[in-house]
Amino acid sequence: MKFFIDTANLDQIKEAQNMGILDGVTTNPSLMAKEGITGHDNILKHYVDICKIVEGDVSAEVIATDFEGMVKEGEALAELNDQIVVKLPMIKDGIKACKYFSDRGIKTNVTLVFSPGQALLAAKAGATYVSPFIGRLDDISTDGLNLIAEIRHIYDNYGFQTEILAASVRHTMHIIDCAKLGADVMTGPLSAIEGLLKHPLTDIGLAKFLEDHKKANQ
Ligand code: G3P
Repeated sequence: MKFFIDTANLDQIKEAQNMGILDGVTTNPSLMAKEGITGHDNILKHYVDICKIVEGDVSAEVIATDFEGMVKEGEALAELNDQIVVKLPMIKDGIKACKYFSDRGIKTNVTLVFSPGQALLAAKAGATYVSPFIGRLDDISTDGLNLIAEIRHIYDNYGFQTEILAASVRHTMHIIDCAKLGADVMTGPLSAIEGLLKHPLTDIGLAKFLEDHKKANQ
């Protein structure tokens, strides 16, 4: 299972990278805005900065919603670095753009996916990644994790190579559940990743080991 961090915050990306477990980064326009990254040139520079920190794939989202605009923006993004994955919205022109890029060997991530049918279209268009948003489905009292299971089932039926990138992961249990269901990738906040470290018996056990070592070595 690949671990991506879902942020545009360089310090958090560095923190996850320094743990040695990071496989990539996902961003979106909201996450860029949250970090105060505005203006075309600054946004492109920020993607380059992220690529310098991590070795894996970095999803960069287009703003255009028409085919020609998405192609123009996506080509400029892809030229920044081989690590860039062009992130496209799950709309008709987004699917057309996905096919355009996949035919040319440019990696894609189809985002804002909320149904198995949308995921099927993304796979048909040759998407590298499909991003079902599990947290946002949970927010409206719908079972986000069930969507991961449905997509896994459909993709396995036909051997689609599109990787299921569980997005809108909000907490540590989402990561565990996505792993059980066979998501290829999860993207979440640093807090959810660091939550995997925690168990009270680990802390109690470590304190006892150190205490016993100290007593024996006085
Ligand atoms: O990768 C998509 C993700 O950023 C959405 O997360 O928490 O805004 O639903 P959230």
